[in-house]
Amino acid sequence: MTIEKMELIHFRNYEKLELQPHPEINLFFGENGSGKTNLLEAIHFCSLGKSHRLSQDANAVLIGEKAAAVRVEVRSRLSRSRIEIRLSPGEENIKSVWIDGNRASRLSEMMGLLRCVIFSPEDLNLIREGPAVRRRFLDMMISQISRPYFIALQQYRTAMNHRSAILRTARLENRPVSGMIEDFEQAMSVYAETIYRERFGHERFLSEMANEMYREISGREQETFQIQYRSCLKSDKDGSPSLKEALRDCREEDMKNGTTSVGPHRDDLSLMLNSRNMKNYASQGQMRTGALSLKLAQLKVIQKVTGENPVLLLDDVMSELDPERRSNLLHILQDTQTFITCTDRSDLSDYIHYRTYQVREEGGRGAVSEFLSGPEPVSPVFTEPVFE
Ligand SMILES: Nc1ncnc2c1ncn2[C@@H]1O[C@H](COP(=O)(O)OP(=O)(O)OP(=O)(O)O)[C@@H](O)[C@H]1O
Ligand SMILES: [Mg+2]
Repeated sequence: MTIEKMELIHFRNYEKLELQPHPEINLFFGENGSGKTNLLEAIHFCSLGKSHRLSQDANAVLIGEKAAAVRVEVRSRLSRSRIEIRLSPGEENIKSVWIDGNRASRLSEMMGLLRCVIFSPEDLNLIREGPAVRRRFLDMMISQISRPYFIALQQYRTAMNHRSAILRTARLENRPVSGMIEDFEQAMSVYAETIYRERFGHERFLSEMANEMYREISGREQETFQIQYRSCLKSDKDGSPSLKEALRDCREEDMKNGTTSVGPHRDDLSLMLNSRNMKNYASQGQMRTGALSLKLAQLKVIQKVTGENPVLLLDDVMSELDPERRSNLLHILQDTQTFITCTDRSDLSDYIHYRTYQVREEGGRGAVSEFLSGPEPVSPVFTEPVFE
Protein backbone atom coordinates (compact mmCIF):
# COMPACT_ATOMS: atom_id res chain seq x y z
CA MET A 1 0.00 0.00 0.00
CA THR A 2 1.44 3.38 -0.93
CA ILE A 3 0.52 7.01 -0.52
CA GLU A 4 0.91 8.61 -3.92
CA LYS A 5 -0.02 12.10 -2.86
CA MET A 6 -0.66 13.94 0.38
CA GLU A 7 -2.08 17.41 0.94
CA LEU A 8 -2.34 19.51 4.06
CA ILE A 9 -4.23 22.72 4.43
CA HIS A 10 -4.19 24.78 7.62
CA PHE A 11 -3.05 21.65 9.44
CA ARG A 12 -0.79 22.30 12.48
CA ASN A 13 1.98 24.70 11.36
CA TYR A 14 1.31 24.17 7.63
CA GLU A 15 -0.64 26.59 5.54
CA LYS A 16 -0.69 24.62 2.29
CA LEU A 17 1.38 21.67 1.30
CA GLU A 18 1.31 19.01 -1.37
CA LEU A 19 3.76 16.10 -1.54
CA GLN A 20 4.16 13.13 -3.84
CA PRO A 21 6.11 10.71 -1.71
CA HIS A 22 8.49 8.00 -2.85
CA PRO A 23 7.05 4.45 -2.79
CA GLU A 24 9.90 3.29 -0.55
CA ILE A 25 11.72 5.45 1.97
CA ASN A 26 10.94 9.11 2.57
CA LEU A 27 13.12 11.05 4.95
CA PHE A 28 12.01 14.29 6.58
CA PHE A 29 14.88 16.07 8.28
CA GLY A 30 14.92 19.41 10.02
CA GLU A 31 15.39 21.22 13.27
CA ASN A 32 13.34 20.66 16.38
CA GLY A 33 9.90 22.21 16.12
CA SER A 34 10.03 22.61 12.33
CA GLY A 35 7.01 20.39 11.58
CA LYS A 36 8.30 16.86 10.87
CA THR A 37 6.04 14.99 13.28
CA ASN A 38 3.11 17.08 12.05
CA LEU A 39 3.54 15.44 8.63
CA LEU A 40 3.34 11.95 10.13
CA GLU A 41 0.38 13.02 12.21
CA ALA A 42 -1.43 14.11 9.03
CA ILE A 43 -0.96 10.61 7.58
CA HIS A 44 -2.16 9.06 10.82
CA PHE A 45 -5.32 11.17 10.66
CA CYS A 46 -6.06 9.79 7.20
CA SER A 47 -5.50 6.25 8.42
CA LEU A 48 -7.32 6.10 11.75
CA GLY A 49 -9.27 9.34 11.76
CA LYS A 50 -7.32 10.78 14.67
CA SER A 51 -3.94 11.89 15.89
CA HIS A 52 -1.39 9.44 17.24
CA ARG A 53 -0.64 12.07 19.89
CA LEU A 54 -3.10 12.17 22.72
CA SER A 55 -4.36 15.50 21.42
CA GLN A 56 -7.77 16.99 20.76
CA ASP A 57 -8.75 17.26 17.08
CA ALA A 58 -9.16 21.03 17.42
CA ASN A 59 -5.47 21.44 18.29
CA ALA A 60 -4.52 20.30 14.80
CA VAL A 61 -6.06 23.36 13.16
CA LEU A 62 -3.51 26.08 12.32
CA ILE A 63 -3.79 28.72 15.03
CA GLY A 64 -5.90 31.63 13.76
CA GLU A 65 -7.75 29.50 11.17
CA LYS A 66 -11.28 28.09 11.43
CA ALA A 67 -10.77 24.75 9.70
CA ALA A 68 -8.13 22.30 8.51
CA ALA A 69 -8.00 19.43 6.04
CA VAL A 70 -5.65 16.57 5.24
CA ARG A 71 -5.99 14.40 2.19
CA VAL A 72 -4.15 11.38 0.81
CA GLU A 73 -4.39 9.39 -2.40
CA VAL A 74 -3.66 5.76 -1.68
CA ARG A 75 -2.93 2.91 -4.02
CA SER A 76 -3.42 -0.59 -2.68
CA ARG A 77 -3.30 -3.99 -4.34
CA LEU A 78 -6.94 -3.92 -5.35
CA SER A 79 -7.99 -0.31 -5.44
CA ARG A 80 -7.19 3.36 -5.25
CA SER A 81 -8.84 5.71 -2.82
CA ARG A 82 -8.83 9.33 -1.81
CA ILE A 83 -9.31 9.92 1.88
CA GLU A 84 -9.84 13.31 3.39
CA ILE A 85 -10.39 14.45 6.96
CA ARG A 86 -11.79 17.90 7.55
CA LEU A 87 -11.66 19.52 10.96
CA SER A 88 -14.00 22.43 11.71
CA PRO A 89 -13.95 23.13 15.45
CA GLY A 90 -16.76 25.72 15.33
CA GLU A 91 -19.28 23.32 13.80
CA GLU A 92 -21.50 20.77 15.45
CA ASN A 93 -19.56 17.85 14.00
CA ILE A 94 -15.99 18.97 14.31
CA LYS A 95 -14.66 16.14 12.17
CA SER A 96 -15.86 14.82 8.84
CA VAL A 97 -14.45 12.00 6.74
CA TRP A 98 -14.59 12.07 2.95
CA ILE A 99 -13.90 9.03 0.82
CA ASP A 100 -13.50 9.53 -2.93
CA GLY A 101 -15.32 12.84 -2.63
CA ASN A 102 -18.30 11.49 -0.68
CA ARG A 103 -18.93 12.20 2.95
CA ALA A 104 -18.76 9.02 5.04
CA SER A 105 -21.51 8.57 7.58
CA ARG A 106 -19.31 6.62 10.00
CA LEU A 107 -15.67 6.59 10.94
CA SER A 108 -15.60 2.83 10.44
CA GLU A 109 -15.97 3.33 6.66
CA MET A 110 -12.41 4.61 6.44
CA MET A 111 -10.86 1.76 8.43
CA GLY A 112 -8.50 -0.27 6.31
CA LEU A 113 -8.33 2.12 3.35
CA LEU A 114 -4.95 3.42 4.51
CA ARG A 115 -3.28 1.10 6.99
CA CYS A 116 -0.38 2.50 8.92
CA VAL A 117 1.93 1.63 11.76
CA ILE A 118 3.57 4.46 13.65
CA PHE A 119 6.57 4.30 15.94
CA SER A 120 7.45 7.36 17.96
CA PRO A 121 9.56 8.06 21.06
CA GLU A 122 6.47 7.86 23.29
CA ASP A 123 6.13 4.20 22.35
CA LEU A 124 8.55 3.36 25.13
CA ASN A 125 5.37 3.73 27.18
CA LEU A 126 4.22 0.44 25.66
CA ILE A 127 6.69 -1.17 28.02
CA ARG A 128 6.85 1.30 30.88
CA GLU A 129 3.24 2.29 31.39
CA GLY A 130 0.06 0.51 32.42
CA PRO A 131 -2.23 -1.78 30.41
CA ALA A 132 -4.23 1.01 28.69
CA VAL A 133 -1.33 1.83 26.33
CA ARG A 134 -0.97 -1.79 25.28
CA ARG A 135 -4.71 -2.24 24.76
CA ARG A 136 -4.67 0.84 22.54
CA PHE A 137 -1.84 -0.73 20.55
CA LEU A 138 -3.85 -3.94 20.08
CA ASP A 139 -7.02 -2.06 19.23
CA MET A 140 -5.31 0.10 16.62
CA MET A 141 -3.75 -2.94 15.02
CA ILE A 142 -6.88 -5.07 14.86
CA SER A 143 -9.22 -2.22 13.89
CA GLN A 144 -7.21 -1.77 10.71
CA ILE A 145 -7.67 -5.37 9.63
CA SER A 146 -11.14 -6.12 10.96
CA ARG A 147 -13.99 -3.66 10.65
CA PRO A 148 -16.27 -5.91 12.79
CA TYR A 149 -13.68 -5.56 15.57
CA PHE A 150 -13.69 -1.77 15.35
CA ILE A 151 -17.49 -1.74 15.43
CA ALA A 152 -17.59 -4.23 18.33
CA LEU A 153 -15.20 -2.00 20.31
CA GLN A 154 -17.38 1.05 19.78
CA GLN A 155 -20.58 -0.82 20.67
CA TYR A 156 -19.00 -2.45 23.69
CA ARG A 157 -17.96 0.97 25.03
CA THR A 158 -21.41 2.42 24.42
CA ALA A 159 -23.10 -0.47 26.26
CA MET A 160 -20.58 -0.17 29.11
CA ASN A 161 -21.30 3.56 29.47
CA HIS A 162 -25.04 2.82 29.68
CA ARG A 163 -24.43 0.15 32.33
CA SER A 164 -22.28 2.56 34.36
CA ALA A 165 -24.94 5.26 34.12
CA ILE A 166 -27.59 2.85 35.46
CA LEU A 167 -25.39 1.89 38.42
CA ARG A 168 -24.57 5.53 39.10
CA THR A 169 -28.23 6.55 39.09
CA ALA A 170 -29.14 3.68 41.40
CA ARG A 171 -26.46 4.75 43.85
CA LEU A 172 -27.23 8.46 43.76
CA GLU A 173 -30.97 7.99 44.07
CA ASN A 174 -30.66 5.05 46.46
CA ARG A 175 -32.95 2.94 44.29
CA PRO A 176 -32.78 -0.66 43.04
CA VAL A 177 -30.82 -1.12 39.83
CA SER A 178 -33.00 -0.75 36.72
CA GLY A 179 -33.85 -4.03 34.95
CA MET A 180 -32.44 -2.51 31.75
CA ILE A 181 -28.97 -3.31 33.01
CA GLU A 182 -29.55 -6.90 31.81
CA ASP A 183 -29.80 -5.69 28.20
CA PHE A 184 -26.59 -3.71 28.38
CA GLU A 185 -24.68 -6.54 30.06
CA GLN A 186 -25.98 -8.90 27.38
CA ALA A 187 -24.80 -6.49 24.67
CA MET A 188 -21.37 -6.12 26.31
CA SER A 189 -21.07 -9.87 26.47
CA VAL A 190 -21.90 -10.31 22.77
CA TYR A 191 -19.44 -7.62 21.57
CA ALA A 192 -16.79 -8.88 23.98
CA GLU A 193 -16.86 -12.26 22.21
CA THR A 194 -15.71 -10.60 18.97
CA ILE A 195 -13.05 -8.64 20.85
CA TYR A 196 -11.68 -11.72 22.65
CA ARG A 197 -11.75 -13.85 19.51
CA GLU A 198 -9.70 -11.35 17.53
CA ARG A 199 -7.23 -10.58 20.32
CA PHE A 200 -6.53 -14.22 21.11
CA GLY A 201 -6.48 -15.00 17.39
CA HIS A 202 -3.52 -12.68 16.72
CA GLU A 203 -1.58 -13.35 19.92
CA ARG A 204 0.65 -16.16 18.69
CA PHE A 205 1.73 -14.67 15.38
CA LEU A 206 2.28 -11.28 17.01
CA SER A 207 4.56 -12.87 19.60
CA GLU A 208 6.50 -14.89 17.00
CA MET A 209 7.02 -11.84 14.83
CA ALA A 210 8.00 -9.62 17.75
CA ASN A 211 10.65 -12.15 18.71
CA GLU A 212 11.91 -12.40 15.13
CA MET A 213 12.04 -8.61 14.74
CA TYR A 214 13.78 -8.23 18.09
CA ARG A 215 16.48 -10.67 17.03
CA GLU A 216 16.89 -9.10 13.61
CA ILE A 217 17.31 -5.60 14.97
CA SER A 218 19.47 -6.47 17.95
CA GLY A 219 21.41 -9.20 16.14
CA ARG A 220 21.27 -11.21 19.38
CA GLU A 221 20.12 -14.78 18.96
CA GLN A 222 20.23 -15.56 22.67
CA GLU A 223 17.56 -13.03 23.69
CA THR A 224 13.90 -13.97 23.48
CA PHE A 225 11.04 -11.53 23.39
CA GLN A 226 7.61 -12.92 24.14
CA ILE A 227 4.13 -11.50 24.16
CA GLN A 228 1.05 -12.92 25.83
CA TYR A 229 -2.51 -11.67 25.89
CA ARG A 230 -3.73 -11.67 29.47
CA SER A 231 -7.43 -11.49 30.06
CA CYS A 232 -8.93 -10.89 33.47
CA LEU A 233 -11.71 -13.32 32.53
CA LYS A 234 -10.95 -15.52 29.56
CA SER A 235 -8.23 -17.90 28.52
CA ASP A 236 -7.75 -19.25 25.02
CA LYS A 237 -9.03 -22.61 26.34
CA ASP A 238 -12.71 -23.43 26.56
CA GLY A 239 -14.64 -23.24 29.79
CA SER A 240 -14.06 -19.63 30.88
CA PRO A 241 -17.03 -17.98 32.56
CA SER A 242 -19.25 -15.76 30.43
CA LEU A 243 -18.84 -12.02 30.74
CA LYS A 244 -22.56 -11.66 31.33
CA GLU A 245 -22.39 -13.73 34.52
CA ALA A 246 -19.22 -11.99 35.66
CA LEU A 247 -20.81 -8.57 35.18
CA ARG A 248 -23.87 -9.60 37.15
CA ASP A 249 -21.64 -10.84 39.98
CA CYS A 250 -19.74 -7.57 40.28
CA ARG A 251 -22.65 -5.11 40.08
CA GLU A 252 -22.48 -4.23 43.75
CA GLU A 253 -18.73 -3.69 43.74
CA ASP A 254 -18.94 -1.67 40.52
CA MET A 255 -21.66 0.50 41.99
CA LYS A 256 -19.38 1.30 44.95
CA ASN A 257 -16.30 1.98 42.84
CA GLY A 258 -18.03 3.65 39.89
CA THR A 259 -16.13 1.44 37.40
CA THR A 260 -16.66 -1.78 35.44
CA SER A 261 -14.24 -4.20 36.98
CA VAL A 262 -14.32 -7.02 34.45
CA GLY A 263 -14.21 -7.26 30.65
CA PRO A 264 -11.85 -6.84 27.71
CA HIS A 265 -11.33 -3.15 28.62
CA ARG A 266 -9.34 -4.45 31.63
CA ASP A 267 -7.07 -6.86 29.76
CA ASP A 268 -3.37 -6.52 29.04
CA LEU A 269 -0.46 -7.79 26.99
CA SER A 270 2.45 -9.11 28.97
CA LEU A 271 5.86 -8.39 27.43
CA MET A 272 8.73 -10.59 28.47
CA LEU A 273 12.41 -10.54 27.70
CA ASN A 274 14.11 -13.84 28.49
CA SER A 275 10.96 -14.91 30.39
CA ARG A 276 11.09 -11.89 32.71
CA ASN A 277 8.79 -8.89 32.79
CA MET A 278 10.46 -6.44 30.47
CA LYS A 279 9.46 -3.39 32.48
CA ASN A 280 11.40 -4.51 35.55
CA TYR A 281 14.29 -6.20 33.82
CA ALA A 282 15.27 -4.70 30.47
CA SER A 283 17.80 -1.92 29.86
CA GLN A 284 16.74 1.33 28.23
CA GLY A 285 18.10 0.21 24.85
CA GLN A 286 16.44 -3.19 25.15
CA MET A 287 13.12 -1.54 25.96
CA ARG A 288 13.46 0.70 22.93
CA THR A 289 14.25 -2.28 20.70
CA GLY A 290 11.33 -4.16 22.30
CA ALA A 291 8.88 -1.35 21.56
CA LEU A 292 10.12 -1.04 17.98
CA SER A 293 9.89 -4.83 17.51
CA LEU A 294 6.33 -4.74 18.75
CA LYS A 295 5.46 -2.14 16.13
CA LEU A 296 7.21 -4.08 13.38
CA ALA A 297 5.35 -7.19 14.51
CA GLN A 298 2.16 -5.17 14.12
CA LEU A 299 3.22 -4.46 10.55
CA LYS A 300 3.78 -8.19 9.95
CA VAL A 301 0.34 -9.09 11.34
CA ILE A 302 -1.33 -6.54 9.07
CA GLN A 303 0.73 -7.81 6.15
CA LYS A 304 -0.24 -11.42 6.82
CA VAL A 305 -3.95 -10.72 7.10
CA THR A 306 -4.27 -8.27 4.19
CA GLY A 307 -1.54 -9.51 1.86
CA GLU A 308 0.15 -6.10 1.66
CA ASN A 309 2.38 -3.91 3.76
CA PRO A 310 0.91 -0.98 5.63
CA VAL A 311 2.65 2.39 5.47
CA LEU A 312 5.26 2.76 8.20
CA LEU A 313 5.86 6.01 10.08
CA LEU A 314 9.07 6.23 12.10
CA ASP A 315 9.33 9.34 14.20
CA ASP A 316 12.80 10.09 15.60
CA VAL A 317 13.95 6.49 15.72
CA MET A 318 17.23 6.55 13.86
CA SER A 319 19.23 8.67 16.27
CA GLU A 320 18.32 6.29 19.08
CA LEU A 321 19.73 3.19 17.38
CA ASP A 322 23.38 2.27 17.01
CA PRO A 323 24.63 1.97 13.39
CA GLU A 324 24.24 -1.80 13.29
CA ARG A 325 20.67 -1.73 14.56
CA ARG A 326 19.88 1.09 12.15
CA SER A 327 21.14 -0.88 9.19
CA ASN A 328 19.28 -4.02 10.38
CA LEU A 329 16.10 -1.99 10.60
CA LEU A 330 16.49 -0.55 7.10
CA HIS A 331 16.96 -4.06 5.79
CA ILE A 332 13.61 -5.12 7.30
CA LEU A 333 11.86 -2.15 5.67
CA GLN A 334 12.26 -3.31 2.10
CA ASP A 335 9.00 -3.13 0.10
CA THR A 336 7.36 -0.96 2.72
CA GLN A 337 6.59 2.68 2.08
CA THR A 338 8.22 4.36 5.04
CA PHE A 339 8.29 7.93 6.34
CA ILE A 340 11.19 8.67 8.65
CA THR A 341 11.83 11.85 10.58
CA CYS A 342 15.19 12.88 12.01
CA THR A 343 17.13 15.99 12.87
CA ASP A 344 20.33 14.80 11.20
CA ARG A 345 20.12 13.38 7.71
CA SER A 346 23.55 11.77 8.00
CA ASP A 347 21.75 9.14 10.14
CA LEU A 348 20.66 7.62 6.84
CA SER A 349 23.45 8.65 4.51
CA ASP A 350 24.49 5.08 3.65
CA TYR A 351 21.11 4.18 2.33
CA ILE A 352 20.25 4.90 -1.29
CA HIS A 353 16.60 4.09 -1.99
CA TYR A 354 15.00 7.11 -0.48
CA ARG A 355 13.79 10.61 -1.08
CA THR A 356 14.89 13.34 1.25
CA TYR A 357 12.87 16.37 2.26
CA GLN A 358 14.09 19.25 4.30
CA VAL A 359 11.56 20.63 6.76
CA ARG A 360 12.03 24.23 7.88
CA GLU A 361 10.19 26.75 9.93
CA GLU A 362 9.71 30.02 8.03
CA GLY A 363 7.88 32.88 9.67
CA GLY A 364 6.08 30.55 12.06
CA ARG A 365 4.97 28.21 9.25
CA GLY A 366 6.28 24.82 8.15
CA ALA A 367 8.00 24.63 4.77
CA VAL A 368 9.14 21.48 2.99
CA SER A 369 11.51 21.16 0.05
CA GLU A 370 12.90 18.17 -1.71
CA PHE A 371 16.61 17.36 -1.65
CA LEU A 372 17.85 15.46 -4.68
CA SER A 373 21.49 15.55 -3.70
CA GLY A 374 23.92 18.00 -2.26
CA PRO A 375 23.35 20.34 0.63
CA GLU A 376 20.95 22.86 -0.97
CA PRO A 377 17.22 22.36 -1.37
CA VAL A 378 16.38 21.98 -5.05
CA SER A 379 12.67 22.07 -5.66
CA PRO A 380 10.01 23.50 -3.43
CA VAL A 381 7.05 21.16 -3.12
CA PHE A 382 4.44 23.82 -2.45
CA THR A 383 1.61 24.01 -4.92
CA GLU A 384 -1.82 25.50 -4.83
CA PRO A 385 -4.14 23.22 -2.86
CA VAL A 386 -6.79 21.28 -4.72
CA PHE A 387 -9.37 21.30 -1.96
CA GLU A 388 -12.74 22.32 -3.12
N1 LIG B 1 -2.34 24.23 15.69
C1 LIG B 1 -1.11 24.70 15.44
N2 LIG B 1 -0.96 25.86 14.74
C2 LIG B 1 0.27 26.35 14.48
N3 LIG B 1 1.41 25.76 14.85
C3 LIG B 1 1.32 24.60 15.52
C4 LIG B 1 0.06 24.02 15.86
N4 LIG B 1 0.28 22.88 16.55
C5 LIG B 1 1.61 22.75 16.65
N5 LIG B 1 2.24 23.77 16.05
C6 LIG B 1 3.68 24.01 15.90
O1 LIG B 1 4.26 22.92 15.19
C7 LIG B 1 5.60 22.80 15.63
C8 LIG B 1 5.88 21.38 16.09
O2 LIG B 1 5.88 20.59 14.99
P1 LIG B 1 6.42 19.11 15.12
O3 LIG B 1 5.96 18.46 16.37
O4 LIG B 1 6.06 18.47 13.83
O5 LIG B 1 7.99 19.41 15.21
P2 LIG B 1 9.18 18.43 14.87
O6 LIG B 1 9.84 18.91 13.64
O7 LIG B 1 8.72 17.04 14.88
O8 LIG B 1 10.14 18.73 16.11
P3 LIG B 1 11.05 17.71 16.98
O9 LIG B 1 12.29 17.47 16.18
O10 LIG B 1 11.31 18.52 18.21
O11 LIG B 1 10.25 16.49 17.26
C9 LIG B 1 5.81 23.67 16.82
O12 LIG B 1 6.54 24.79 16.41
C10 LIG B 1 4.41 24.04 17.23
O13 LIG B 1 4.35 25.29 17.80
MG1 LIG C 1 8.93 15.48 16.23
